[in-house]
Amino acid sequence: MKVGIIQFAPLLGDLNGTIEKLDSLIDQTGSADLVVLPELVNSGYSFVSPQQAYDLAESVDNSIYLDFIAKKACDNNNFIVTGFNEKNGDKLYSTSVLIGPDGYIGQYRKIHLFLNEKDYFSPGDKGLPVFDIGICKIGMLVCFDWIFPEVWRILALKGADIICHPSNLVLPYAQKVVPSHALVNRVFALTVNRVGTEGKLTFTGRSILSNPKGETLFEASAEKEEAAIIEIDPLIARNKSMTPRNDLFKDRIPKEYEELICYNGNKSR
Ligand code: ACM
Repeated sequence: MKVGIIQFAPLLGDLNGTIEKLDSLIDQTGSADLVVLPELVNSGYSFVSPQQAYDLAESVDNSIYLDFIAKKACDNNNFIVTGFNEKNGDKLYSTSVLIGPDGYIGQYRKIHLFLNEKDYFSPGDKGLPVFDIGICKIGMLVCFDWIFPEVWRILALKGADIICHPSNLVLPYAQKVVPSHALVNRVFALTVNRVGTEGKLTFTGRSILSNPKGETLFEASAEKEEAAIIEIDPLIARNKSMTPRNDLFKDRIPKEYEELICYNGNKSR
């Protein structure tokens, strides 16, 4: 299976300009089976007001941007995961959408909001779905979700082979941790970050693909827009054996983890 990575800078408030840029980048990854893009591609990130965030959002079933992505997926006969500023009634979500050759497949709404995102977006309310696309099973996270190991584990337990992670990272830490999430869950982890500067924010690039051994198969530059294709065997993520006597999932002891559910970060136990 070939995985495509598109690290680039969407243009804040200029959807046509973003689509124009993306058109050739997507064509460079046309032979990949699965292509992953950054977070909030249809709007950009550094909103000056909730109204601007809302004005730049689209709904999943009425989106110029997703129509463009669906056409590309159809033309290239592949799957595309993209970050999307999603409007649903009066709420906004930082969503990751999965589109295939036949159109929309599913979505994940970012659960953990970062900094000023709390002024614009609602936390995700669609859980942590895993989608079987035939060649592999896909889970999705969005950017700041990276720091919560629980969500990576849930997706792995639900059978994800590849966790796709559209991002607009401004801190330099996630790229260090993502290979460890891949290792401890024995999955492929693919963080696709953006580059460039918007307002006071500079995004950290260095999109990264890790295999289930925590090895880095690809890392992009910090600043350049780039498209890459990497070949993987997604099915090796289904082998959770660590030693002849240790299996990552069978050795779990959930009754010992109950405090994780009960503990509310505001209170001591
Ligand atoms: C982030 O969650 N966009 C940092």
